[in-house]
This record gives sequence, C-alpha cells and structure tokens, in this order.
Amino acid sequence: MPKHKIAPSLLAADFTRLSKEIEMVNRSEADWLHLDVMDGRFVPNITFGMFVVEAVRRLCTKPLDVHLMIVEPERYVEAFRKAGADVITVHYEACPHLHRVVHQIKETGAMAGVALNPHTPVNVLENLLEDIDVVCLMSVNPGFGGQKFIYQTLPKVRRLREMLTVVNSPALIEADGGVGLQNAEVLLRAGADVLVAGSSVFGAPDPEATIAAMKALNEVWL
Ligand code: DX5
Ligand code: ZN
Repeated sequence: MPKHKIAPSLLAADFTRLSKEIEMVNRSEADWLHLDVMDGRFVPNITFGMFVVEAVRRLCTKPLDVHLMIVEPERYVEAFRKAGADVITVHYEACPHLHRVVHQIKETGAMAGVALNPHTPVNVLENLLEDIDVVCLMSVNPGFGGQKFIYQTLPKVRRLREMLTVVNSPALIEADGGVGLQNAEVLLRAGADVLVAGSSVFGAPDPEATIAAMKALNEVWL
C-alpha cells in the first residue's frame, strides 16, 4: 500500500503572505497543494481563477491539485492545465456529460478528478470508475473552508474503496473538508488516499509540523 498523501488547501492560507505560505508547503512533507476555484454560481463563494493558479505554479514545487467548484468546467479545463494544474477535479453535480469532461481532462495530460457533494452517493460513478484518477469525496458542503466534517462521508469512503477493489482501479480517494488530525486516522482506515486539509494546517501554530504529523499516521491496521 503506498503511503497516503497530504494536500494542504491554500484557501485557508494568509493571502497577504502567499509566497511565504507556499514556501512552507514546499519545505513540508505535503504531497500536493490543493487549490479551490469557486465561481459564485456552483457554490455561493468566489475565490480565484487561472491567473492565481499560474502565479502559484511559479512558486510551488509540488503538484497542483485544482478543485473546480464551477459550472460548465469544460470551458476552462485547458486554461487551468496551461496555468499548471496537475490534477483537475470537476464536480459530478456540475457535469451532465461527465464522461466527456473526464476524457477532455485526460487529453490535456492532467490527472482527472471527480468530486461528489456530501449528498451524492458513490454509486453514480460506477460506470466511469475505470476512467477516473481521483475521486474527491466532499466531507463538507463545498464553498467555504473551516466547516465541520460530515461523518456520513466515512461509509462513502468505505463503499468507494470496495467498488475500486472490485474493478481493480488505482484511482485515489480524496477526502476534502473539515479534515484534521482528529479524523485523519479514521479516514485512512476507511480507505482514503489523499487528505485535503485547509484550516487544520494553515490555522495551526506550526503548519509544517501539522503536515508532518498527518503524514506520519499509519494507514495499515489490518
Ligand atoms: C471547500 C473546499 C475545501 C476547503 C477545505 O469548499 O473544497 O478544499 O478548502 O478547507 P477546510 O480543511 O478548512 O475544511
Ligand atoms: Zn477543495
């Protein structure tokens, strides 16, 4: 079993000192940097777009995990890839033609991710699992950082792990929202591979040590 990945979410960083925050991520044991793109339509909030992703790309040495919480993401896939995204994740709920969008992402050379809102069951992905590189299970309602973890996510992680095993898929399960040291272990035990952590990392007195502590958790209990 490969070691799990930690993806700090830049949304919780101090944007007045963005380069310092990114340098911390570069020095840390973080595997990916998670970037939340919000459009004020799919979610109520607005964050940043490809210009900021492109600036972050120039500073960050880790792969960029770009989480598009936007309507019609197919209009921007190439632009975010060009800006430097390594993983591009779109929402199931925003894509009536999800198969097409997943393949559009893969054609750019990026890893294709699909995110599911907390109320969306994992079996909607049953016929697409073999094409997806990352399944992002939202453990909060998307739109804001610092929310409380929704515990119904855990059975979804377990169920998805079973589904991936059946088709022998190497897709990664990512948990996003309200994740921190208090629930990281239980998520890894359920079968998560990537833990996104915003406020629990950037709000910690020592963000780098918090990343190291999350990375040090052992996921093998069986
Ligand atoms: C929520 C975003 C998350 C968020 C996580 O809409 O997709 O990535 O940044 O932040 P925390 O870890 O603070 O819940
Ligand atoms: Zn996110």
